[in-house]
Amino acid sequence: VFRASGLTTLPSILLIGPSGSGKTSLLTLFERGTSAAQTHTSQAPISAECHLPVGTLASSDKYRSVNDPTNLTHKKFLLIDTPGHGKLRHHALANITNPQNLKGIIFVVDAATLSAGDEGLRHTADYLHDVLLILQKRAESKNKAVKALKEIPILIAANKGDLFTALPASLVKSSLEAEISKVRSSRSKGLLDSGIGMDDEGDRDEWLGEVGSTEFRFKQMEEFDVVVEVSGGNVAGGEGAVVGKWWTWISERL
Ligand code: GTP
Ligand code: MG
Repeated sequence: VFRASGLTTLPSILLIGPSGSGKTSLLTLFERGTSAAQTHTSQAPISAECHLPVGTLASSDKYRSVNDPTNLTHKKFLLIDTPGHGKLRHHALANITNPQNLKGIIFVVDAATLSAGDEGLRHTADYLHDVLLILQKRAESKNKAVKALKEIPILIAANKGDLFTALPASLVKSSLEAEISKVRSSRSKGLLDSGIGMDDEGDRDEWLGEVGSTEFRFKQMEEFDVVVEVSGGNVAGGEGAVVGKWWTWISERL
């Protein structure tokens, strides 16, 4: 594990999400191949150079012959872990607003804290709403690197699937959509009450997804070239890690 400086040319995948969802555990697993015995809540971002596992082909190598010797050197990428704590999120957001060869974002959620009424659901939806809004607004950004990001793929990794209270990926998706709908309307009400964003332009800027829709759907982000997928797994747990779908998603972005 080391810091990102000097490795900025490698394609990178960013890990973000609320505190305790399993980002550092995932980084350790993908870097070393074994899960961490113990993690501590992160206070600073860390990066690790990772390789696609044997048998996973990067999409940029798709047309190479199976006998091509370059297939033997496994595709490398940089995985960047960020702290989930509310006061430390500027680290994660800085990686989005000032991206270095960013190929995708994995938003890690704890699928066992997303039931209706669980405060984890509101926290998670709040954070995800803000991240999606930054990406939606990137076209107006003054930063060239952000503007240059054409399509942004986001994987919502529904982690901790080993826990019996964990929601399956399909429910993680619909619960987050419903909760983001609430976040979206309470934020716009807040803006109206404060008198900010009264003009149509201002309103549109802060409204996530489709204007006029009552329900938020991840699909609405496609208009802004943000493509969201949700898939489940677990980093830790008694039966061993289940992370195959996440590896496949990464390999398709390299
Ligand atoms: P911050 O650094 O605070 O943002 O949290 P984080 O997202 O890095 O979480 P971390 O990786 O430190 O994991 C938090 C706790 O969840 C640890 O005790 C992990 O062992 C546990 N954990 C992570 N993944 C899983 C999983 O798939 N299943 C179970 N049961 N526990 C997990
Ligand atoms: Mg961490």
